[in-house]
Amino acid sequence: MTEQQHVYPVSESFAANAWADNEKYLAMYQQSVDAPDAFWAEQAKRLDWIKAPTKIKNTSYASDNVDIRWYEDGTLNASANCLDRHLATRGDQPSIIWEGDDPNLSKTITYRELHARTCQLANALKSLGVKKGDVVTLYMPMIPEAAMAMLACARIGAIHSVVFGGFSPDALAQRVIDSQSKLVITSDESVRGGKQVPLKDNVDAALTRDGTDVAESVLVVKRTGGDIDWHEGRDVWFDELVDQQSSDCPAEEMNAEDPLFILYTSGSTGAPKGLKHTTGGYLTFASLTHQYVFDYQEGEVYWCSADVGWVTGHSYIVYGPLANGATTLMFEGVPSYPTNGRLGEVIDKHNVSILYTSPTAIRALMAHGDKVMDSSKRTSLRLLGSVGEPINPEAWEWFHRVIGNGKCPIVDTWWQTETGGIMITPLPGATDLKPGSATRPFFGVQPALVDNEGNILEGATEGNLVILDAWPGQARTIWNNHERFVQTYFSTYEGMYFTGDGCRRDEDGYYWITGRVDDVLNVSGHRMGTAEIESSLVAHSAVAEAAVVGFPHDIKGQGIYIYVTLTDGSEPSDALKKELTQWVRKDIGPIASPDIIQWAPGLPKTRSGKIMRRILRKIAANECDGLGDTSTLADPTVVDDLIENRANR
Ligand code: PRX
Repeated sequence: MTEQQHVYPVSESFAANAWADNEKYLAMYQQSVDAPDAFWAEQAKRLDWIKAPTKIKNTSYASDNVDIRWYEDGTLNASANCLDRHLATRGDQPSIIWEGDDPNLSKTITYRELHARTCQLANALKSLGVKKGDVVTLYMPMIPEAAMAMLACARIGAIHSVVFGGFSPDALAQRVIDSQSKLVITSDESVRGGKQVPLKDNVDAALTRDGTDVAESVLVVKRTGGDIDWHEGRDVWFDELVDQQSSDCPAEEMNAEDPLFILYTSGSTGAPKGLKHTTGGYLTFASLTHQYVFDYQEGEVYWCSADVGWVTGHSYIVYGPLANGATTLMFEGVPSYPTNGRLGEVIDKHNVSILYTSPTAIRALMAHGDKVMDSSKRTSLRLLGSVGEPINPEAWEWFHRVIGNGKCPIVDTWWQTETGGIMITPLPGATDLKPGSATRPFFGVQPALVDNEGNILEGATEGNLVILDAWPGQARTIWNNHERFVQTYFSTYEGMYFTGDGCRRDEDGYYWITGRVDDVLNVSGHRMGTAEIESSLVAHSAVAEAAVVGFPHDIKGQGIYIYVTLTDGSEPSDALKKELTQWVRKDIGPIASPDIIQWAPGLPKTRSGKIMRRILRKIAANECDGLGDTSTLADPTVVDDLIENRANR
């Protein structure tokens, strides 16, 4: 059993100086579940409220009435909490340290500067007609303007919807339409690993799609000066417009339950869903988790290597750190450019104390051997964090021993786009660590494991991970589709939030996430629905049917394995495989690139026509011995062909 492995006890010196030792964790946790109103009323005081909330928790998980509200009579502004309130005490302190893709490019932006530029941008948004309640889509590189754009929206009460810069024009169009965005903010190009990505061209392509004419303007940051087309009357240069604006822009008074942002994520079926996060509860939770989980101490440089296109970037590059007056490092590039030593070199260059990254990044570096870290010393590091997918113990140990020089605790943080912030995690001064375990719940989080009928399982066991009661950072609904929200999260097990993850709990009460139990893939920490990839494939004229499953991948965690049944008259060939790969990349984005395509004359189906994915997953994983019962299949012989021709051995 993995939990028999090495345990890393909390170091006494770490605990002595940390925000929480074990005693404090246990006491605060107990209060958070025994008296949530009192606990969360107290925690809300970490924010500046215009009107302090008197109603704290008002939540229902009943499937006929899912309704989640926190601090509902309070008012505040998220941007003022991240900027204005720091000016008196830390106006000249760095807010964002930006490190470019090119190692010779970096800049430091103080809180005063970030405040001024954000206010100018907020006024620019107003001049483009953006009003409170409007949605603005951000399709941007990892540059400070992305954070400014988020905060400028928040300042005037507009709702941002950040779309990851690796998504295709179609994926972008889909999100612009669903959210009815009035404005798109982008840049001419982005730069990653020395390569340019034509963001503005992608926006141009997206905005030719039917239904996107709702987007009236495109605000364009000049990042590279690369060649772009210009649509007179629609396109506006960012600097030209923003430079002219006043740096005085009063922050809009927002209700705690007013939306702060929408963020799209993949589910097991259908189109990506726009999770709606609101202002007061989200910001309280992002700020509290950032302080305690990363044990953030005044003046430290903190680096979360995620992209702002994902929830990790929202909560732990922008909102959590800035609400706490932290210095947050924003990295435009990739850990492998110009060399594989870059991650460590960035840490040394900026004296990073806390590094929050992904198992995929760690495994990719680990594959090069210990010497990959020789170009840096990383003596400034005090704490490491991991997020996005289960971290295998080998990668955990390597992260600890090599990147952290054997002296930094690792917080393996489990959470989701839907949860808004970290849910299950060690606190570094409180929790003894077991490599591979996300350990214990954060304050206010009540995890439970249930069997397939929804019975709660006690003690050391394995089951489906649910959360029994609401926490402030939770998404409130799916944009325009509350019914889908209820269906997806609250109808599987009555009265509980279903996470979609499987999980084991050991005899110490530690949680070990085992991965998704639904048809969602997690490829390099990127979440993808198998249904999305399948519907892209069947739109190709050569594809009659497609089934997509994940398979274990050394670096990515999960790879994408595709079974394709061709239409009559289409011939299997390597050229067609390449074409289908390009097709999916173009349709969804490079993150959805198939790893393996297998031609499947038939797919294993039940007599009622349902594809038996369990069998396809086993074959993709090259585990053909334990296929289980195939007698319910309409035609059991298709399995023999698939095994015979399996592509992963
Ligand atoms: O399966 C879990 C996995 O990532 C899913 C959530 O993906 P997303 O909404 O894109 O958010 C990722 C960043 C918060 C979860 O359902 N996951 C995330 N963190 C962990 C994890 N699995 C295991 N351990 C983690 N620390």
